[in-house]
Amino acid sequence: MSIPRRKDLLSIAPLADEEIELVLSNAAQFKALFRRRVKKVPTLRGRHVLTLFYEPSTRTLSSFEIAASRLSADVTHFSVSTSSVVKGESILDTVETLESMQVDCIIVRHSASGVASLIARHSRASVINAGDGWHAHPTQALLDAFTLREIWPDLSGRRILIVGDLLHSRVARSTSTIFHRLGAEVAVLGPGTLIPDTRWDWLRKFRTFDEALHWQPDVIYLLRIQNERLGDDPFFPSLGEYHRHYGVTDERFARIAGEGLYLMHPGPVNRGVELVDAVMSYDRCLINQQVENGIAIRMACLHWLQPATSSS
Ligand code: CP
Repeated sequence: MSIPRRKDLLSIAPLADEEIELVLSNAAQFKALFRRRVKKVPTLRGRHVLTLFYEPSTRTLSSFEIAASRLSADVTHFSVSTSSVVKGESILDTVETLESMQVDCIIVRHSASGVASLIARHSRASVINAGDGWHAHPTQALLDAFTLREIWPDLSGRRILIVGDLLHSRVARSTSTIFHRLGAEVAVLGPGTLIPDTRWDWLRKFRTFDEALHWQPDVIYLLRIQNERLGDDPFFPSLGEYHRHYGVTDERFARIAGEGLYLMHPGPVNRGVELVDAVMSYDRCLINQQVENGIAIRMACLHWLQPATSSS
């Protein structure tokens, strides 16, 4: 059965199971290219990809640009800070201007939830959400699922504990959704102020790390404390207090490594807050695999989407 191409990728929830499987399976094929001397294929020759990031990024921006280059697309990075955005040009006027230059795909990151959908509604080009506010980060979720599928081809019954600030986390929203869709049991742990009561009824909730480890997770997924989204209101007494209760301390790391649990983090990490330095060289810490797989997943997404008026 052929799966129709989508114009946009805005969040995980609307994707059909077959669409998720298609992206994961295509990503595996693209990843196989990484070991070749020539990593580039002509798949998107003649297409133009634009990265439009209103928020900082290392992994997502670089890996989209590398993914597009490996598919032979032309890539332009739109520098918000040196653009007419600083003169007050609106998002939609900016997008309309850039669209007049015939780009085929716009990859957008913005601090406000819903901006990627807004652009997608007004754009002929495909739009990929590279993170919008607290809402969604679908390519992060796909690369996280891909990373775990490399270990366990079937995630059914695998237990994944997500630790941290769920309230402000677009990663947690997207990643917990895909893990659940792929059959994993998902639980969360964090300060009560950062775990919404009324959302995600299907998530098991723990209040202490001991309780959560007693549940015997296979994977611990640490979320970044996003200081830029916490504002002036304290959600917990201090970063030191957060580390003591919800961080992978030296003592917890010894237990986690002893039990052979896998650790994930979307990056960037706050060393000494979410985790201690030793975690970074643990052989079951998947952070670098997540980053590498981000390129394969983003190649698969760029390959899959199709702009509204494309003729091929
Ligand atoms: N995981 C993630 O989105 O990282 P960047 O902010 O570096 O893109």
